[in-house]
Amino acid sequence: MTKLMILHAAELATPEGKTAVYGEKMNHLKVIHDGAVVIEEGLIKAVGTTGEILKNYHKPQHKVIDAAGRSLVPGFVDSHTHFIFGGYRPEEFFMRLSGKSYMEIMKAKGGIENTVKATRKSSFDELFQSGIQRLNSMLSFGVTTVEGKSGYGLDLETEIRQLKVMKKLNEKHSVDVVPTFLGAHAVPPEFKGHSSEYIDFIISEVLPQVSDQNLAEFCDTFCEKGVISIDHSRRLLSAARNMGLDLKIHADEIEQLGGAELAAELGAASADHLLEASDEGIVRLAEKHIVATLLPATAFCLNKRYASARRMIDHGCAVALASDFNPGSCFTDSIPLIFSLACIYMKMSGEEALTAFTLNGAAALNRADKIGSIEEGKSADLLILKYPSYKYLVYNTAVNIVDQVIKRGKLITP
Ligand code: NIG
Ligand code: FE
Repeated sequence: MTKLMILHAAELATPEGKTAVYGEKMNHLKVIHDGAVVIEEGLIKAVGTTGEILKNYHKPQHKVIDAAGRSLVPGFVDSHTHFIFGGYRPEEFFMRLSGKSYMEIMKAKGGIENTVKATRKSSFDELFQSGIQRLNSMLSFGVTTVEGKSGYGLDLETEIRQLKVMKKLNEKHSVDVVPTFLGAHAVPPEFKGHSSEYIDFIISEVLPQVSDQNLAEFCDTFCEKGVISIDHSRRLLSAARNMGLDLKIHADEIEQLGGAELAAELGAASADHLLEASDEGIVRLAEKHIVATLLPATAFCLNKRYASARRMIDHGCAVALASDFNPGSCFTDSIPLIFSLACIYMKMSGEEALTAFTLNGAAALNRADKIGSIEEGKSADLLILKYPSYKYLVYNTAVNIVDQVIKRGKLITP
């Protein structure tokens, strides 16, 4: 494998450590001027100023990239998406523009059920091909690791197909794909009015296959009033944990149901959305070291109030940012849009936002020891930005400024 040296970066900016970063520490980045990185065997071998690096390493052995006038940051980790699906729902977006709510559309057999119909009809290859296109787009925004959820099958066959598509994508595409089983995304039409039986079905028929075939790292639930209750979420997630999966929860997105508290009770890897999370829930997330994953593009598309990022960080939480890319509530994978929303509307600092999109995203996927920062020993997943500072990620509002992506030491120009 090639040896690579990146020299003369106007600035190298990264959070530090092998765990999530909590509270006020999210604001601290390591910044090196005239920064340099040495990469060998896909891993970061050394980080420092160009002067320091050139003292210890010899250029001739390495392919050299001159990053003068540009800056280096870690690859982005998009830790919450639903990118494997069939069909689209533009008419629902227009219904929302004319005043219908997301939940009204869902109750009228639109929403997730619409995508379930189309996904059940989609072949493995159709899902795989659209998956490749979507990963290409994410990569162009600097995403080097993405989580993807099932949840548009809601039957054994299609849920397994979605997860197997992600497994193959992970093998074939340079973006790493982390699969999450979201069988409890909604109660499917076959089980309408019998949600408890649906949870039983997932626990006895689907989860064992997911676990035996090693198809998912996490189990998630859309814990929401009128969708999957707290009790059902608890029952399902406890069973999933017993079968070796770690946990995530769509928590307190539309109504305050106690999803954050449930995530803390179960020791989930992350609680996601949290637009309506209670103060008590926020305190518990901080105490239990659960990553609070915020998805401001969803709040933006649904025209809802944003999650209280400031309150969470001030209470000592580790906040991650992610896209929630999906065909319903948030049909965008635009990382630059999310930087803008996080900083302008959720009042996060640029430093906090960068930490949230890198190291804390990695922590939400149990990978903070391997990715999420530019440090010796970690995977060489990094971005060369077109401008001389990470500050342009926020300043160049909603514009993609990623020039080159390096994934596991391999240069990919999107
Ligand atoms: O995270 N809230 C539940 N799931 C997705 C939306 C899925 C859909 O509408 O297709 C979300 O917003
Ligand atoms: Fe989601």
